[in-house]
Amino acid sequence: MSDFAGKCAIVTGAADGPKAALGATFARTLAAAGASVLVVDRLDVEPTVASIKEGGGSAEGYRCDLAEPSAAIDAANAAVRHFGRVDILVNNAALGSNIPPVGMGDIPIELWDQMMAVNVRGTMLAVRAVAPIMARQGYGKIVNLGSPMRITGAAMRLHYAATKGAIHAMTRSMARELGGDGIRVNTLTPGLPGTAFNLERMSAEMEAGLLGGRSIHEHITASQIADVLLFLASPRSDAITGQELLVDNGGSFL
Ligand SMILES: NC(=O)c1ccc[n+]([C@@H]2O[C@H](COP(=O)([O-])OP(=O)(O)OC[C@H]3O[C@@H](n4cnc5c(N)ncnc54)[C@H](O)[C@@H]3O)[C@@H](O)[C@H]2O)c1
Repeated sequence: MSDFAGKCAIVTGAADGPKAALGATFARTLAAAGASVLVVDRLDVEPTVASIKEGGGSAEGYRCDLAEPSAAIDAANAAVRHFGRVDILVNNAALGSNIPPVGMGDIPIELWDQMMAVNVRGTMLAVRAVAPIMARQGYGKIVNLGSPMRITGAAMRLHYAATKGAIHAMTRSMARELGGDGIRVNTLTPGLPGTAFNLERMSAEMEAGLLGGRSIHEHITASQIADVLLFLASPRSDAITGQELLVDNGGSFL
């Protein structure tokens, strides 16, 4: 039997679109592995849900703004209503890749607060919403999305790097706090994937710099990142908690 049969996963930030963002790939990968998936986003979630159902998988959508304090609890309740349980939470929603680079002196205060509200507070509230459900089940897997920028630092992206530094600090604290209930919490940290969307926006010089900075001088695919997500969401990684796994072809090291 599949590691995911009968399991319910919530994936935030999983709307599908021209950007072919990671969240939709995560949702489809978990569904293909046998999980029922609640697809959460502030954008239209139906394309991801439809693609999962077309492939024979099980999914429902829940559209909300995770910056709203009550959104995560409503999403967790929707998962229980549809699937009766919550086993896996993937905290993927974030403001980041579409935020233009800006020097520290020019970061608008409102933008700073918005990024903290979505990336940091939104992640904490989502974990707080599912933790009691997982604790009652005696088991749960939580994966928070990080960024290599929290390790390397990033000029002009201090606001984003700060939120991702907070993510891993929270992962460690959550792992300590929730471990007694059988809940594992880890950070999955992808490098920039070589999606068509990203490649179209990259000059040849930027691409050479990106690949040259990696130990393996190749692009990373969304499905390679999703494979590591599957590992972190499955019982195969049950002895791992509070850790960060980098999927960046050896671009940065912990
Ligand atoms: N793409 C990368 O290069 C990269 C690298 C490292 C880490 N990451 C992390 O991986 C995750 C996914 O990255 P991506 O590039 O696919 O992101 P993305 O920006 O393309 O997608 C994020 C999704 O989150 C949703 N979202 C944003 N704010 C929301 C809110 N308030 N409420 C509900 N949904 C909201 C968006 O609508 C979008 O569908 C993010 O956490 C990102 O920080 C990405």
